Amino acid sequence: MQRFFKGKKILITGNTGFKGSWLTEILLQWGADIVGVSLPPKTEPNLFAILNLEQRIKNYFLDIRDFDALKKVIADERPEIVFHLAAQPIVRISYDDPLTTYSTNALGTANVLQAIHEVGSVRAAVIITTDKVYKNVEWIYPYRENDPLGGYDPYSASKAAADIIAQSYIQSFFNPKDFGKKHQTLVAIARAGNVIGGGDWGEYRLVPDIVRSIYEKNEKVIIRSPRAIRPWEHVLEPLAGYLELASGLYAGKIEYSDAWNFGPDHESFMNVEELVKRATALLAKGTYEIREDNTKHEAGILMLDTTKAKSFLDWSPRLRFQENIDFTFSWYRNYYEKAADPIEFTDAQIKSFFNDASS
Ligand SMILES: NC(=O)c1ccc[n+]([C@@H]2O[C@H](COP(=O)([O-])OP(=O)(O)OC[C@H]3O[C@@H](n4cnc5c(N)ncnc54)[C@H](O)[C@@H]3O)[C@@H](O)[C@H]2O)c1
Repeated sequence: MQRFFKGKKILITGNTGFKGSWLTEILLQWGADIVGVSLPPKTEPNLFAILNLEQRIKNYFLDIRDFDALKKVIADERPEIVFHLAAQPIVRISYDDPLTTYSTNALGTANVLQAIHEVGSVRAAVIITTDKVYKNVEWIYPYRENDPLGGYDPYSASKAAADIIAQSYIQSFFNPKDFGKKHQTLVAIARAGNVIGGGDWGEYRLVPDIVRSIYEKNEKVIIRSPRAIRPWEHVLEPLAGYLELASGLYAGKIEYSDAWNFGPDHESFMNVEELVKRATALLAKGTYEIREDNTKHEAGILMLDTTKAKSFLDWSPRLRFQENIDFTFSWYRNYYEKAADPIEFTDAQIKSFFNDASS
């Protein structure tokens, strides 16, 4: 797969975010030519700046809600591959500002697909949604790609809308049946759950809260839901899935033009206290205190069934739970303790993850 991406012209929306920065770094390492479309980074520090990405790619700060500006970039740059990650991704913020969430996530996705349709340069596009697109019926069974979509909170509803819009574009304009005859573009939808990894400082997320408490505030980590079980997936896992989809679509695999779940194996479902315990052990720093807060409604656990991706794509989770913890917290430790250069450290993790023999 590494060799496939060399020299390819790739547009990433959301390239200044957590997942987008990791994706950019992987593709730069593999020799791709990257164009980024995003808003400026919102957190300080942020991975985009730490990896010096603004200087290493062709970067556009623009709002994907502005169709004309977005289309102009796609028309000028003529990318062959698009990864669409730009979104307002936080559930809590979606309650405060539902309209920005809907316009960015739903209409922004329509803008990206429409611009791809009108310009015609793109051969493969991967639209990133989430596990939250599924109608959560609060059962224990994992969700499959053909389960009904829904959305209780504005974020989930906006991403379910984005997913349905992408399905509609696939049917109406990029139908695999017409590929090579009426159009040259294949589109896939990728649904993954919450991910962790070095370099995330997003709001209302557990790992950034842990490292901020320990390294920036010198405070105890406060755990409010110690027994809540979460699926812990490293950010590189779904990104490997997105990359696999893009290379297959580009090669004309029409069966890839569909929706795909990317989630962790059962071994990676662990409670919050266990994660914090292992994190403080790995950092050799920090303590925690449990202050249970049972007042807020917590949606029940939602598991993804990944049988389809494991059976039909060259994809399956690579890191075990402890390796994920090691990857994640060693990255922060290296950053805060100013040990190795963060670009070199990040590149070494990428090489090790993808078993790159040249590492
Ligand atoms: N991080 C997770 O755990 C997780 C889980 C499931 C799905 N996702 C999805 O993955 C994608 C990336 O998430 P992330 O964690 O990197 O988020 P992030 O907040 O770190 O990054 C979001 C990116 O979107 C860009 N963006 C936001 N509004 C924009 C607009 N109007 N115009 C242009 N760009 C805009 C931001 O500038 C940033 O680059 C999102 O689509 C998100 O819904 C993330």
